[in-house]
Amino acid sequence: MMSLISKLSDVVGKAFEAQGLPAELGAVQVSDRPDLAQFQCNGAMAAAKLAKKNPREVAQAVVDTLQASDIFSKIEIAGPGFINLTVTGDYLQNHLKDIAGDDRLGVPVLGDGTVVLDYGGPNIAKPMHVGHLRAAIIGDSVRRVMTFAGYDTLGDVHMGDWGTHLGMLIGDYLREGEEGLVLNTDVNDPFAVQAMMDDMAVRYPKASASAKENAELMADAQATTVKLQNKEEPYITIWQKIFDVSVAGMKKTYASLGVHFDLWKGEAAVHDLIAPMVEKFKETTIAHESKGALVINVAKGSDNKEVPPLILYKTDGAVMYGTTDLATLVERMNLYDPKKIIYVVDQRQSLHFEQVFRAARKEAAGLEPIVPEEVELTHAGFGTMNGKDGKPFKTRAGGVMRLEDLISMAEEKARERLAEADLAQDMGDEEREDVAHKVALAAIKFADLQNQRQSDYVFDLDRLTSFEGKTGPYLLYQAVRIKSLLRKAGYDLTAAKDFVLQEADTPLALLLTELPEYFAASLANYAPHHLCEYAYKLAQTFSSFYGNCHILSEEDEALKNSRLALCALTYQQLELVLEKLGIEVPERM
Ligand code: ARG
Repeated sequence: MMSLISKLSDVVGKAFEAQGLPAELGAVQVSDRPDLAQFQCNGAMAAAKLAKKNPREVAQAVVDTLQASDIFSKIEIAGPGFINLTVTGDYLQNHLKDIAGDDRLGVPVLGDGTVVLDYGGPNIAKPMHVGHLRAAIIGDSVRRVMTFAGYDTLGDVHMGDWGTHLGMLIGDYLREGEEGLVLNTDVNDPFAVQAMMDDMAVRYPKASASAKENAELMADAQATTVKLQNKEEPYITIWQKIFDVSVAGMKKTYASLGVHFDLWKGEAAVHDLIAPMVEKFKETTIAHESKGALVINVAKGSDNKEVPPLILYKTDGAVMYGTTDLATLVERMNLYDPKKIIYVVDQRQSLHFEQVFRAARKEAAGLEPIVPEEVELTHAGFGTMNGKDGKPFKTRAGGVMRLEDLISMAEEKARERLAEADLAQDMGDEEREDVAHKVALAAIKFADLQNQRQSDYVFDLDRLTSFEGKTGPYLLYQAVRIKSLLRKAGYDLTAAKDFVLQEADTPLALLLTELPEYFAASLANYAPHHLCEYAYKLAQTFSSFYGNCHILSEEDEALKNSRLALCALTYQQLELVLEKLGIEVPERM
């Protein structure tokens, strides 16, 4: 269905057209001055420039046309030529009824076709840490938003499983004669998996540190990496086990975050596509040798910073990060024929993606680009999660914090907060634990998503777990409160809804019509913070409505039902929006 803003923009656009002016000038927005009007249109100023007339004169002509419609209860011209609009109660009621009867709660379908989303990137053999958190939270939310918009989405975890870190680790097992620890691990035994993860968590940093200090060890690690990439034994068999065990561990961590992936692939999955891809490049002038390496020049004359060539093969024949990303594009185009490929990856990798995207667009006589211009390639980068000291978040001891530890810490805090607020205290242990987990995730996710993704933010556990303020727990609390009110009223959420709106109901009623615009903004820029904004505004507006209006105690039956319907619609929208943010509402609290 069409949003209220779109319907009004249509009507006002036609009035502009009637003056021989472009319909786009009729774009309507929510009023900046809710005390004066519900909506406004600012098009008369631009129209006046086009028509070389006085803006108020243009506005007056538009208003004269609009007077004929029965949509508005008030139409006024303000200031230099703002058109202020207020719709009739009937019109608003009917629109709200349509939203309540729509299984998408008013949000239109906005897309189609396949989209590949890349928002994992953990490296196998290394524990997942806070650096992987933002990609997972933002990427999963973008996936949910795009799915709801109408796209067929494919989330790919795209693990780092083909780099030098594996050469170091496998080299270490072999040198110590301890490869049996890997080969004998039973992937179906959670304890064995954990033991091997723990072993790798100690072994890898040790191997990496020694390689950095000792040139011979480093050369060995690099040689091992090349042998692995050539799929030689025993390297590839050891690697396969490391891969399987790591995937089992990652699946557990992502599941506890409620983050979903459709594809569990990594860099290694596309290895066999690299040689044919490079061959094609070599047949043209796209790739060339430079100091023994094979590279693609991606610099452009218009660059104002240096964009170095993308390295396909190093001198020792090893492939690089850019090589696997390019081959992954070959695979994604072949298998999925996507309209868009979106990378939710740390902003600091922007140069890497610039190189990869430019290489993917390269064409030459007889060679099509890997990704044609009409397929969107976007690096939706994000900033850093900082500690209260403003520096990248670390453990108290200054180390990298494991993701699992961070989740446990947040759960611990959530338990404390629930106890302080006397919430969930009458529950059995299992249900209370489930609520604490949901509160913890809501806290972490909302704190992350409410910021523009490009900006850094401070992870302040005390603040973000609070039940007050702009936090995930506050929103859960509000949602649960509405749910319990509806339960008390015996209200059936699926019942047909009718509205009779009084003045005190109007702010909430109006806001409930605005979800499509917030949703579209989130979709357009891969920017979940717009939905966070909406959820928070909705919870606050509901709070005032709840404070100002009789609901259960209302004696007028029709008004009482309308108010319950407003509560129900508020709950449904809140739940929908939170779900798109990856936040789950508990049954009670
Ligand atoms: N594994 C990479 C890292 O740890 C992130 C991968 C992001 N995705 C990609 N297709 N490059 O930095």
